[in-house]
Amino acid sequence: MERRAPAEVHMSQAIQPAHANPRGELSAGQLLKWIDTTACLAAEKHAGVSCVTASVDDIQFEETARVGQVITIKAKVTRAFSTSMEISIKVIVQDMATGIEKLVSAAFSTFVAKPLGKEKIHLKPVTLLTEQDHVEHNLASERRKVRLQHEDTFNNLMKGSSILDDPVCDEEEGAVPPGGTSVQSIELVLPPHANHHGNTFGGQIMAWMETVAAISASRLGQAHHPLLKSVDMFKFRGPSTVGDRLVFNAVVNNTFQTCVEVGVRVEAFDCQEWSEGRGRHINSAFLIYNAINSEDELITFPRIKPFSKDDFRRYRGAIARKRIRRGRKYVTSHKEEIPRCIHWDKHNQVSLIHGNVEALKKLAAKGGWEVTSAVDKIKIYTLEEYEVLSIWVEEHVEKPAHIAYHLLSDFTKRPLWDPHYLSCEVREHVSENDQIYYITCRAVNNDKPKDLVVLVSQRKPLKDGNTYTVAVKSVVHHLIPPCPHYIRSEITCAGFLINPIDSSSCTVSYFNQISSSILPYFAGNIGGWSKSIEETAASCIQFIENATDYYIIF
Ligand code: COA
Ligand code: ADP
Repeated sequence: MERRAPAEVHMSQAIQPAHANPRGELSAGQLLKWIDTTACLAAEKHAGVSCVTASVDDIQFEETARVGQVITIKAKVTRAFSTSMEISIKVIVQDMATGIEKLVSAAFSTFVAKPLGKEKIHLKPVTLLTEQDHVEHNLASERRKVRLQHEDTFNNLMKGSSILDDPVCDEEEGAVPPGGTSVQSIELVLPPHANHHGNTFGGQIMAWMETVAAISASRLGQAHHPLLKSVDMFKFRGPSTVGDRLVFNAVVNNTFQTCVEVGVRVEAFDCQEWSEGRGRHINSAFLIYNAINSEDELITFPRIKPFSKDDFRRYRGAIARKRIRRGRKYVTSHKEEIPRCIHWDKHNQVSLIHGNVEALKKLAAKGGWEVTSAVDKIKIYTLEEYEVLSIWVEEHVEKPAHIAYHLLSDFTKRPLWDPHYLSCEVREHVSENDQIYYITCRAVNNDKPKDLVVLVSQRKPLKDGNTYTVAVKSVVHHLIPPCPHYIRSEITCAGFLINPIDSSSCTVSYFNQISSSILPYFAGNIGGWSKSIEETAASCIQFIENATDYYIIF
């Protein structure tokens, strides 16, 4: 028999027509209920008392399960904190005819031990059996920080949200007001919806929310069929019990081409509150849908045209949540990376150098860059393509372009302004314009420090151009093997493009196509809970603007 952790439970369900929508696909609400029940049973196995859902992290649905297939949900306590625990959840679908298994979703939720009475219970630590258990246990505290900071992160981003985010609706043909997608619904909590203490199951509430949200999404997608793609992180703010009336209000907040964000707010009323019209706000969740037409193609949603103050707040809120979700996705995915570094040897040096410069130019020329922040002299853009995230930091510098180029192309000076760099030295002088550097970087997130071996290729503008280029790419060098004190990391494509504005100022654009080993340095910024990119960019500007002749000459 498979070795299972003490606080791990598996639930398998054969998908029946009663669990499915009219297209024969497992309904998202049913799946959310099963996920929550399995996670709750894992939490209670560890706690030995009844537990309630405190929060659920972002959930993404990668696959659709169908009637006749078998779905298996695996839930395991990764870490117990004081009264709360993190549960990791994996959902797998198996096709019975072919035996093929696919991952539907991987997510995390937090449960709080809630015995009868008021006393708090302090949970015992989790027994860790495998190497993977240890890794997850360590990462759990990182995820907890992100979770507990969620509201602050969102509020900060909202404070920073600006006219940049607002729609240019006047010229926009076919933009629709959100009002037409508004849905209200009500449910009475009965004993089958609650645990034996009478607390409503979180999964039941999530399933009801999903039903209402899907109706709202389908009002925008006309006759098209909405498919739940992801659910944003949310918190159960307060309990609900048997006998409560739950009122659900949903409306579309914003659309992003083939995605739509629907928000749902839930208020609970007991009998007295009901007659007084005074409810308790127990949850708000934000669900992202795609919609497909009769040919199974993704449809493009019309743009939303906000009218009221609430509409505008929610419209901007959806943009902020999209940013946070993206950052979190890259923080928590921890994908294994296949090293793509190329060996540096004399047969391929010319093509590697050429490829290094070309890759940076191609990255910069791509369409689809989105502004994610703009302060003073620094603008940050991101580009997401097929799960690869790239970042572009644009800096306005009050020094001529050739001086910025001179200072930035010499990587030995980088530790003077980039706080992530500990040391940087030339290991091979390939030509006047191409060097191999060995770099060591500071540790982040209690990880080991990282090191890099990179090719840096610097180019002055060609005759008919005015762009200075400094391209960077990792290589494998036989004289610089990995060392046990550092994690050897990789830069796929990065560098600077420097363009003169006039004779005394220029624009410095820093690009990085972010590999997962480099991601910890960027993720907080992308998600909105750190300003380290802005700080590094400001330090870079200051370094160039304050550079004395000494640095420029030597
Ligand atoms: N995500 C994860 N954990 C959270 C959290 C969040 N958003 N907010 C609070 N917690 C954790 C705290 O970190 C703390 O854990 P610790 O003891 O291990 O450090 C624990 O919850 C209790 O926090 P505390 O500050 O004492 O209580 P609170 O007033 O914030 O209440 C709940 C937290 C979850 C207990 C409370 O909001 C609640 O009862 N919610 C309803 C739960 C429920 O009934 N769910 C079922 C569906 S209605
Ligand atoms: P906010 O309105 O700031 O987003 P709330 O927690 O009040 O935060 O609501 C969460 C979401 O629920 C809203 O973004 C909206 O999509 C939906 N919602 C809230 N109130 C209503 C309502 N009266 N009618 C329709 N939808 C609503």
